[in-house]
Amino acid sequence: MFPNCRYAEIVLALAAVTSATIAQTGQTVQVNGVDYFAAPSSVNIIDLTADDISSALRGEDMDLVPLTVLGDSSNSFTSDEFISLVNNYTATDDVFNTGFLQRTLHDFGTQLIMFDRPYGSSQPVTGWRKSIPPGPYFMSASTGHVFQAYRLYSDVQGAFTEGVIANSDGTYSPFSAAISGAQSQTIGVPSRLYYTKTADQPLAGVRLGIKDIYDIAGLKSGLGNRAYFDLYPPRTVSGTAVSRLIAAGAIIIGKMKTSQFANGETATDDWVDYHSPYNARGDGYQDPSSSSSGPGAGIGAYEFLDIALGSDTGGSIRGPSQVNGCFGNRPSHGLVALDGVMPLSPDMDTAGFLTRDPLLWHTAAQVLYETNISSSNFESFPKKILTSGFPTSATTEAEGVLLDFLAKLQTFLSTTNTTALNVNTLWAGTEHAPINDPIISNVMSNVYPVLIGSEQFNIFTTPFYADYAAAHEGRRPFIDPVPLIRWAFGTSFGPTAADMANANRTVFKSWWETVVNPPSTTTCSDSILLYPGSLAQTTYRNAYRSAPVPPTGFSISRVSNFAEVPDFVFTIGQASYNSTITLQEEVLPVSVDIMAAKGCDGMIFALAKQLLDAGILKIPATGSVPFP
Ligand SMILES: *[C@@H]1O[C@H](CO)[C@@H](O)[C@H](O)[C@H]1NC(C)=O
Ligand SMILES: *[C@@H]1O[C@H](CO)[C@@H](O)[C@H](O)[C@H]1NC(C)=O
Ligand SMILES: *[C@@H]1O[C@H](CO)[C@@H](O)[C@H](O)[C@H]1NC(C)=O
Ligand SMILES: *[C@@H]1O[C@H](CO)[C@@H](O)[C@H](O)[C@H]1NC(C)=O
Ligand SMILES: *[C@@H]1O[C@H](CO)[C@@H](O)[C@H](O)[C@H]1NC(C)=O
Repeated sequence: MFPNCRYAEIVLALAAVTSATIAQTGQTVQVNGVDYFAAPSSVNIIDLTADDISSALRGEDMDLVPLTVLGDSSNSFTSDEFISLVNNYTATDDVFNTGFLQRTLHDFGTQLIMFDRPYGSSQPVTGWRKSIPPGPYFMSASTGHVFQAYRLYSDVQGAFTEGVIANSDGTYSPFSAAISGAQSQTIGVPSRLYYTKTADQPLAGVRLGIKDIYDIAGLKSGLGNRAYFDLYPPRTVSGTAVSRLIAAGAIIIGKMKTSQFANGETATDDWVDYHSPYNARGDGYQDPSSSSSGPGAGIGAYEFLDIALGSDTGGSIRGPSQVNGCFGNRPSHGLVALDGVMPLSPDMDTAGFLTRDPLLWHTAAQVLYETNISSSNFESFPKKILTSGFPTSATTEAEGVLLDFLAKLQTFLSTTNTTALNVNTLWAGTEHAPINDPIISNVMSNVYPVLIGSEQFNIFTTPFYADYAAAHEGRRPFIDPVPLIRWAFGTSFGPTAADMANANRTVFKSWWETVVNPPSTTTCSDSILLYPGSLAQTTYRNAYRSAPVPPTGFSISRVSNFAEVPDFVFTIGQASYNSTITLQEEVLPVSVDIMAAKGCDGMIFALAKQLLDAGILKIPATGSVPFP
């Protein structure tokens, strides 16, 4: 065909080009109409000859066949037990479906048998190289390789920046599969049946989303800014917080959206670089709050997501927990090191969770904060309740939910010792030397915006601008309006701004812990402080708002930022409103914030558990109606 000289020329030309590197990134398939992904690296090999396997599998066109590895199939395994097991798999695992029973692998102790369902034939399997956990898998008919099955979900709420999958070397990669025609990110979740919780791995199999300000080895960090995402390469290490969750067995399924650089942005006009996630509650067009917007929206919407790691500097976990109807904790300041996390203000930055399940919440907190969260620093719950901003009577449905919760809490704690706290009045009437100004807003109003604006600009923005300029011929990157005005405000007070703000913060903190809510040796915290979280009020995301302003002012939600105390959100109910979107009555979550003295996080978690056991707290459902 080719003249010899041409042939030799081509051989030489081919030798001169670099050889291709081809990477397997897994395969997408459907089983009974559901989208799945077969992971790229195999977890086992069925050591039959290729001929044996293909004859067993009747030479189907497709190489991958669904397979269920059955746990617990002893010699006395009966057909009733088989049905019970399959029912259990269906009930506890969203990845398993009966299509995976096409082939089943039974461990009869002395013998492994693979059954072929439609034909009822079976054959012994001799070469199972290691035991793998029960659950649905995919097997290659040509090679006998067995791959984990991931179910694919569309991120229809826009809560994630990307799906994520663990590599075998401990790093992570962006999830490669995509559901076609979904116009959304695809998130893959492995079968829940693969994992068993142990003392060492209390989070085994727990599906975790991570706010995209936490570094994860192998992945880029985006921080809600396109220029930032583009500029830096993938991180090589995960920080302390993320590493602890991984070590405890958590399965990171994706990185989740943050408002830009974790500053407070309201949907939709503040969100210029990326679109704000959708809050599933009510009519679906309410602001999801920020900055842990993705974690809040995801937990409020997705059964497939168990818990999310967020951060709270000035309300970034609490706000999204309140309006998306979850539980969320701003912990006592300093419980876990924040290496590998974007700073907003190190004096106030904290790492915490958003979840629907108060028990998982506590377990995850014990993993994240290790010995810094104590469950033994109190003998009993406080008998004193402080309320701030509570209604005296229920003029709305939401206020009724709030007052009902308070009444139940009083009964639960066997106390009637509830005092309405007015922070402004108490400040005016008590000592707080060396600051004698009796008007608290004079002292505290600027502290938050000065700290975040100046600290973030100095620690984070300055090197980012320099790196960006070096890579782009001196240009400045695009920044959303909110962080820009905050940095401008914070830096307008000069180089000592943060020190001056911290001086006021320190005075406030010591006033709070001596005058308002001191620690206690028996109850950890002298009192439990409650304030309304969300009252089913609307913040429509299709409203045009005014230009952003610096977050000055003082209110009860600022106290934990300054006094370093825990502030947890409990979603306690819902209330109806007339939606201008659906033109129907819809419901939105009602939540309460619970504060205690610094270091009393364990006490609040214990309270949540006991209130759950007592039926006073309930696990919210996902979707439009938290409590159907
Ligand atoms: C299915 O789950 C139930 C309830 O947890 C359990 O009692 C039963 O033993 C399980 N069935 C099998 C076959 O494991
Ligand atoms: C406990 O908190 C301290 C102070 O913030 C911190 O230095 C330490 O690393 C924390 N310990 C653990 C186990 O996280
Ligand atoms: C309420 O509790 C505080 C402190 O625990 C105590 O000093 C006060 O006497 C109590 N008041 C009532 C009415 O029990
Ligand atoms: C600190 O408090 C004083 C009032 O005593 C006030 O004049 C000053 O502006 C405050 N500083 C900051 C940074 O907020
Ligand atoms: C919704 O509108 C209807 C009709 O005006 C009214 O009867 C109802 O009370 C409203 N519901 C709420 C929760 O405001």
